[in-house]
Amino acid sequence: MYTSFDETTLDKIVTLLKSHQSEFLSGEKLSKSLALSRAAVWKNIKKLKSLGYKIESRPKIGYRLRQNTNLLFPWEISDGLQTDIIGRKIYYFDKIDSTQNFALELAQKPHENGSIVIAERQTQGRGRLNRKWISPKGGIWMSILLRPNFEPSYTSLFPMATSLALAVSIEKTLKIKTELKWPNDITIKGKKVAGILIDASIESNKIDYLIIGIGINFKINPSTISKSIKQRNYAITTLVKKDQKGSPVELIQQFLFELEQTYNRILTNSIETIRKEWIRRSSTIGKNVTATTTTGTLKGKAVGIDKTGALLLSNRSNIQRLLAGDITYN
Ligand code: BTN
Repeated sequence: MYTSFDETTLDKIVTLLKSHQSEFLSGEKLSKSLALSRAAVWKNIKKLKSLGYKIESRPKIGYRLRQNTNLLFPWEISDGLQTDIIGRKIYYFDKIDSTQNFALELAQKPHENGSIVIAERQTQGRGRLNRKWISPKGGIWMSILLRPNFEPSYTSLFPMATSLALAVSIEKTLKIKTELKWPNDITIKGKKVAGILIDASIESNKIDYLIIGIGINFKINPSTISKSIKQRNYAITTLVKKDQKGSPVELIQQFLFELEQTYNRILTNSIETIRKEWIRRSSTIGKNVTATTTTGTLKGKAVGIDKTGALLLSNRSNIQRLLAGDITYN
């Protein structure tokens, strides 16, 4: 595991190499700037190469960064991140059972508000309603721990706020238009590309913590996932195809920024803006839907979403509020 605060040497070397990409940086200069021996510099360069950085080394001349890594290292995400709270600490795993489980452990410790857990793959990824979430390499699997000073009733706003922040960032960084499907799916032409899971702990009528889990099929093979979820009635897609380029780090940075902005809007009670913007991007409103909840099935027309994020279903002039569940379009 790497964290954003314990790998400062690798981080510093990458930063120096990035700022000198048109020239070779001598081993001597690197060792002086970092107050490290030449042998230690070489050891760290070897480590960076093993982590996917393409670094050219020329004896007696030095090192030059040829290509950045595609992996989601904390120092890559921190570099240029424009947030104050979200992402102050980043925990990174090549493989983990579930980032959500690790974030739950962090929630028992102090000073972790805004911490992020990110993994290249998950072996026991969790989806909503106790479903399995298939998380192969190439996706973005991330959990964010927040300790908002909100009333518990605000919890249901977070799926809406998070999915909106993600849709906005996908559009800004990849120029891809997505749709929002209630309660928290992000789709492209009706196919699911990302989902959000919120674990909340409420204590004495206050939110103790929220863990926002975000799963993004960034660059994956949709059929690998579809095969494992055959029983379900929705199609899967990927944001970036096999032969296409796209930076997952840029998307993550933009998303964390948008999420923090949205979070501040909730703090300042500008919930109406979030609600309107969500509706504008939604594929749900106006559709006839079948909703499955823990207590049964409901049919009706989705006519709106209220300020708590609940779906409003109209059936024979009756309006029902749906706080949680799953919907399919009829
Ligand atoms: C859904 O069912 O649509 C929500 C899926 C959420 C998956 C993410 S991936 C990162 C985090 N860790 C998990 O185990 N689940 C969430």
